[in-house]
Amino acid sequence: MNRRELRQQLVAARKGIAPGAAHRAGLQASQQAWKLQILQRATRIAAYFPMGGELDCRALIEQAWARGRDVYLPILHGNRLRFRPYTAATRVAPNRFRIPEPVSGAELPATAMDVAITPLVGFDSAGNRLGMGGGFYDRSFHFLLQRTRWRHPRLVGLAYDLQRLTKIDRQPWDVPLDAVVTESANYIFAV
Ligand SMILES: Nc1ncnc2c1ncn2[C@@H]1O[C@H](COP(=O)(O)OP(=O)(O)OP(=O)(O)O)[C@@H](O)[C@H]1O
Ligand SMILES: [Mg+2]
Repeated sequence: MNRRELRQQLVAARKGIAPGAAHRAGLQASQQAWKLQILQRATRIAAYFPMGGELDCRALIEQAWARGRDVYLPILHGNRLRFRPYTAATRVAPNRFRIPEPVSGAELPATAMDVAITPLVGFDSAGNRLGMGGGFYDRSFHFLLQRTRWRHPRLVGLAYDLQRLTKIDRQPWDVPLDAVVTESANYIFAV
């Protein structure tokens, strides 16, 4: 199966999860996530606005607020992502992909985040990530590919367990994940 077919199949599976189960999975994933040291240590946490059956990260965002962390959401800046603060009072408006973005607030670059929680379509046991195919996360975090010893920010995928694949062929531009959190487990790829 090529990347396009794989994406179609996995997005359909993700969208097929019933609302109640999806809600529970979001709560369970949030609980799992706070067991990760990289999240426990993070002050600036980039999350995402769940769309298209992506695992609901709202519980994780609320937990981050409750723990006094600064939460950010991505905004499109050309073909890269930048990040704006997100609080309960933040107004959002849809971008060109109809994904809600904060309408105001200081724009920070990817390098300013401690952890970026990314949605994904598929992941494998080596931390390879299959996204929606726009290359936005890969472009925005490309600088991590040059760093061998000190990885910052850390990338944490959030996904359903059913999005786990045996092997994803990694392309030269693909930026791997440090960990993936699902509703039932944490997969840690880099310490
Ligand atoms: N660092 C980069 N510089 C230039 N182009 C890039 C870079 N990273 C990715 N791209 C482009 O983005 C396209 C899509 O990449 P890919 O198929 O890996 O998307 P993805 O990882 O699924 O998407 P996303 O990162 O948005 O979740 C690639 O065909 C490539 O041309
Ligand atoms: Mg990629």
